[in-house]
Amino acid sequence: MPVLETPCLILCPFREEDIDLLAELMANTGFMRFSLGVFTREQTRAFVDKIIGWERRGLPSQFALIHRSDNRLIGYCGFSHQQVDGTEEIEIGYRLDPDYWSRGLATEGAQAVRDHAFRDLKLPRVISLIHPDNLRSRRVAEKNGMKIEKKTVFRGFPTLVFAISRKQRLAEDGAG
Ligand SMILES: CC(C)(COP(=O)(O)OP(=O)(O)OC[C@H]1O[C@@H](n2cnc3c(N)ncnc32)[C@H](O)[C@@H]1OP(=O)(O)O)[C@@H](O)C(=O)NCCC(=O)NCCS
Repeated sequence: MPVLETPCLILCPFREEDIDLLAELMANTGFMRFSLGVFTREQTRAFVDKIIGWERRGLPSQFALIHRSDNRLIGYCGFSHQQVDGTEEIEIGYRLDPDYWSRGLATEGAQAVRDHAFRDLKLPRVISLIHPDNLRSRRVAEKNGMKIEKKTVFRGFPTLVFAISRKQRLAEDGAG
């Protein structure tokens, strides 16, 4: 995985050494909103192992988000592999330390990941799976150029499938 850079963030591959810092974040109820709940250290380890496993297999994966001005790990943003209504999809997902919310950082990260998907990885499309009540995340997806494609049930929860295709993105502004 390459390192992506934005004005406020560095997006880099996760390393085993990140487990302790990420475990602190994943024990935070704000960070884990709209999920099954907070993670133990063991659950965080399994999550990091999964992400590193994708990378080793050359698959798109999650990036650690490093906040440039204080050099802190503040969350993650990147790719997950999901099966939605029987179809394999690549999802852009994100979680941030609540201390850093509402500064445009999730949007900045998600846009860098979307551009990487289309420009470098040449993915045909990416989605984001979002609970209808998660207004902040919906807004990030909208600012990422995504549109609601359908409503479904994902892992037992009502879920909006936001999507953008490479073609749509190219038509919008010639990126990719
Ligand atoms: C969702 C999340 C990543 C957003 O991070 P963020 O850095 O605060 O996002 P941004 O600042 O880039 O954008 C947030 C947008 O939501 C808007 N917003 C904030 N609070 C809101 C609210 N209560 N209702 C509606 N919109 C809201 C902001 O105004 C901003 O939009 P704008 O730029 O048009 O003003 C962060 O809140 C988070 O980690 N949440 C918990 C985990 C999560 O839900 N992840 C997504 C799972 S699908």
